[in-house]
Amino acid sequence: MRNFLNKKVQAIEPSGIRRFFSMASEMKDVISLGVGEPDFDTPWHVRDEAIYTIQKGRTFYTANAGLLELRQAIAENIMRLQGVAYDPAKEVLVTIGGSEAIDLVFRAVIEPEDEVIYTQPSYVSYLPCVQLAGGVPVAIDLKEENNFRLTREELEAAITDKTKVLVLSFPNNPTGAVMTKADLEAIVDLIIEKDLLVVSDEIYDRLTYNDDEEHVSIISFPGMRERTIYINGFSKAYAMTGWRLGYCAGPAQIIEQMTKIHQFTIMAAPTMSQYAGLEALKSGEQDVEEMRESYNQRRRFLLSELERLGIPCFEPLGAFYIFPNISQFGMTSEEFATRLIMEKRVAVVPGTAFGKSGEGFVRISYAYSINELKAAIERIEQFIEELKQEK
Ligand SMILES: Cc1ncc(COP(=O)(O)O)c(C=O)c1O
Repeated sequence: MRNFLNKKVQAIEPSGIRRFFSMASEMKDVISLGVGEPDFDTPWHVRDEAIYTIQKGRTFYTANAGLLELRQAIAENIMRLQGVAYDPAKEVLVTIGGSEAIDLVFRAVIEPEDEVIYTQPSYVSYLPCVQLAGGVPVAIDLKEENNFRLTREELEAAITDKTKVLVLSFPNNPTGAVMTKADLEAIVDLIIEKDLLVVSDEIYDRLTYNDDEEHVSIISFPGMRERTIYINGFSKAYAMTGWRLGYCAGPAQIIEQMTKIHQFTIMAAPTMSQYAGLEALKSGEQDVEEMRESYNQRRRFLLSELERLGIPCFEPLGAFYIFPNISQFGMTSEEFATRLIMEKRVAVVPGTAFGKSGEGFVRISYAYSINELKAAIERIEQFIEELKQEK
């Protein structure tokens, strides 16, 4: 029989996060700090709305781009948070999570050999989605000494005459880094001068802990709305991962092409999820704030505990991840994470699951209760005591 498989697909590595997650699920008594998913249930009023939607028999397809009412609420929300206007009829598309929007944008804009710059360590989808779209991914390795932010110099060095797209993903998974207004200001004129399209994945925008500044989106800078596809969703801020609901906003001519692909491959996001999302946007502000406060407490707890254990870690100001530097233990991230799960039953993700510049780090998710975090820290403390004795 011939090999039916597509070489491009075969060449893609499976996600390193899932591997550790599966390992953890097969063991007993594991404390998993591995998964990037809120531990909160979706707020009740949002669940109620979906139940009501089913009871009312609203089980039809919506418009391909999503319920107009939901797109209007999305546009209002972006206006409220970032002061930027989008036309709900032409410039907003409701997708199956932020994930689908990431895939769609690359498929809609990439021509063979177009280069797409993205920063590493990074969320695992950009690289394979660019490859599947036939583009050339170009990684910028972000540095711990810059608090894992992208600098103008790093961007300038990576741009060639083939660069078409820059992916920005802040607040960042896995590092928890944010780009402040000043950080963005430093790169905006370069992006415009080099005529790049920005794909800005802002799925963690509501989970930031910087007392001095709320999250600022690159779309709020003059000249950037026209050249940015803004991606967001409900999974993280509203604890709605399983509902598979996200969205993007951008210039009409790009959103139109993305909608075409979405129309033929997905049709429309699930109707019940869309009504639930509408309820989340209308009445979920209090929930977002309560969850954010809770993540912040856990973040502070972990930071102080890691400091006590002598494990260096820059202060993450967004998302729900912390990215400690474990290089002092003389092991690769993979070895460290493997020994930690095998010997102490604590699952974290090796930094290298997010690109080679994650070497020397592990990602700890704090979307877990304080009690779980406390228990995990006790085990990590024993682990590093034992490592010190081995030396
Ligand atoms: C940075 C980032 N973008 C996008 C996603 C996808 O989220 P969803 O498809 O659930 O909206 C994730 C999920 O972990 C993420 O961390």
